Amino acid sequence: SRKVTTRRLTEMKAKGEKIAMLTAYDYSMAKLIDEAGMDVILVGDSASNVMAGNTTTLPMTLDQMIYHAKSVMKGTNRALVVCDMPFGTYQGNPLEALSSAIRIMKESHAEAVKMEGGEEIIESIQRILSAGIPVMGHLGLTPQSINKFGTYNVRAREEAEAAKLLKDAHLLEDAGCFAIVLEKIPADLATRVASELAIPVIGIGAGGGCDGQVLVMHDMLGINEGFSPRFLRRYADLGNTIKDAVGSYITDVKSSDFPNEQEQY
Ligand code: KIV
Ligand code: NA
Repeated sequence: SRKVTTRRLTEMKAKGEKIAMLTAYDYSMAKLIDEAGMDVILVGDSASNVMAGNTTTLPMTLDQMIYHAKSVMKGTNRALVVCDMPFGTYQGNPLEALSSAIRIMKESHAEAVKMEGGEEIIESIQRILSAGIPVMGHLGLTPQSINKFGTYNVRAREEAEAAKLLKDAHLLEDAGCFAIVLEKIPADLATRVASELAIPVIGIGAGGGCDGQVLVMHDMLGINEGFSPRFLRRYADLGNTIKDAVGSYITDVKSSDFPNEQEQY
């Protein structure tokens, strides 16, 4: 089936077709996820957690994001590939933001970038959009601001924060963002944002009223075993599958069962 574009996502929302999005960080997994029929692949800065073993997304560098995005692009034919802009590469000023986004587009060939925040970074978003680079917004729980929030708990439960989020969502749409991710906010608020905006609203822990859903690949495949928030549905138990397979290999090597006569030259 045909290549997914930002325009196609807007059409999907208009038709009430839900959008499926999942993260990937490498060639082999991106290829499997693309072949399964994913609409959008996000090269998330969650790579910091699930690939690099950090406790936050803050250490991720532009070079590291480009390396992951480049690998994902090589495995992807149909899905739209969006690359996160890492912490510290777009908050300074619009020109710094633009040159970071240009590096991602030129060096990785990703097709869009994602940025965390609303009003605070709107000038950077506008500058990037004016260069013809599609931008996906990200509001609610924005992990790059963990040191300000202090926790990864649900955001925008209170009226003032909910009102700001609604205002920011409109600001992002008016600026020209092609979609918005809403992370870990009350379902009622996410439903309201999705109904007020014409651009797709992709939720993670934001309920069924969104126009699409996104999850971190390692979480939904059961590789990241310690992580089990309410919003996470596990579609596989790859953690145990991998440990069982590796355990069998170890046993076979130790018992001289592997390799056998047919497995040698
Ligand atoms: O980095 C990431 O994986 C994300 C998604 C959770 C939306 O930003
Ligand atoms: Na991210």
